[in-house]
Amino acid sequence: MAFKSFFGRGRDEAPTPSIEEPDDVGAADDLDIVTEPEVAPQRTWQDRAELVLPTGASTGSKRAAALYAESAADDLPTHFASAVGAMLTDANGFQYYDCTMALGAVALGYAEPRVTQAVIEAAQQGNVAGLSNWREVEVAERLCAMIPCAERAQLLKSGAEAVSAAIRLARAYTGREHIIACGYFGWHDWASNAPGVPASTKALVTRVPFDDIAALEAAVTNAGTALAAIVLEPVVERAPSQAWLERARALCDASGSILVFDELKTGFRVAPGGYQEVCRVTPDLAAFGKAMANGYPLAAVVGREAIMNAARDSWISSTLASESTALAAALAVFDWHDEADICATLADTGREMRAAVERGMAASGITGVSIHGLDQMWMMQWSDPLHESRFIAEAMREGVLFKRGAYNYSAIAHDESVILEIERAASAAFVSLREDNQA
Ligand SMILES: Cc1ncc(COP(=O)(O)O)c(C=O)c1O
Repeated sequence: MAFKSFFGRGRDEAPTPSIEEPDDVGAADDLDIVTEPEVAPQRTWQDRAELVLPTGASTGSKRAAALYAESAADDLPTHFASAVGAMLTDANGFQYYDCTMALGAVALGYAEPRVTQAVIEAAQQGNVAGLSNWREVEVAERLCAMIPCAERAQLLKSGAEAVSAAIRLARAYTGREHIIACGYFGWHDWASNAPGVPASTKALVTRVPFDDIAALEAAVTNAGTALAAIVLEPVVERAPSQAWLERARALCDASGSILVFDELKTGFRVAPGGYQEVCRVTPDLAAFGKAMANGYPLAAVVGREAIMNAARDSWISSTLASESTALAAALAVFDWHDEADICATLADTGREMRAAVERGMAASGITGVSIHGLDQMWMMQWSDPLHESRFIAEAMREGVLFKRGAYNYSAIAHDESVILEIERAASAAFVSLREDNQA
């Protein structure tokens, strides 16, 4: 059955498909896991979402406004029906190559066959029961073997949970409360300034700028003996200086506080053991997730035995933390990393992706945009946000989804033919933007 006719419903008018169906896409017709969206002839999935989900999407970065900006054109999709390799198929059957890789949660590719097979087998054997699944032990053992700081591990479901667990452990171990933080750590109270967070909670966290040694030293001095932890996202739009990370390590050692690395984006992407494996500064605790289970919900807090054992006196627990499908996905991911240098391939592929976009920029003569970041996680920075939104929309119409205002992530599934498509779509979008600007 043609994909388009199978899914060609659920909105008023379907957009014109803009890319050719690649040869291997026919395989998607055979996928039992694709479910038919419910018929809703007069409304888009976005319309329906806005009526029942307060922000339109449960993941902030997948709101229409986040994807395409407030001026989002109505023809752009907000919901997918299937995702295989580097390609997603929207709820109307139109296909797009994806450079966002689900906010970095996927590094191998969508529906990677070995991961999918492992998940199916685990599900068939029962996802949960009244006992822990054996895979929990194996995942913890393998994390401890792969991650420099990991002597113990505890599993959770989301990145925010894993970093919050690290903060809980640091506070329990030190008996102190103040946190110095740099990065994004999810939506939980301790890490947020949003309405609804108690002022007393916010007062316990000092934010410091990325890679700024003087600011870090001043914050440590101000916190004094109340300092429980310094928690850093080691890469924020670029690699940090070695001196910043080493100073953070030394300041923690001198003050008796805990150094935490949030490796949600960097773990199993820049190296299996995260940025700590690259920079050789070993934190006391670290949080992992995202690419660790190639898109299945699994996260972990790992670290030094004595600090992790503070979990015995405190409380960190989640009903589904050890459900077997995500654990099986992680084990399949670990096997991939054992068999091949996945992170080196992610770096090579990311380098080619960004070079493809840079060629499009150069050929179009566009100005006001440049590319930053690591090859595995790179981003476009625009001097004019309106130009960015127009580029993102135009590239999507050309069949490629780029991330607005945040990282694009490489995946093993971004092969040569996908990179050619990325270059074609980016070039066309840059040219269209430049022509609009000149008109
Ligand atoms: C560095 C970092 N930490 C924590 C989080 C929160 O993870 P989650 O959204 O899975 O709760 C994210 C999510 O993007 C992240 O990038």
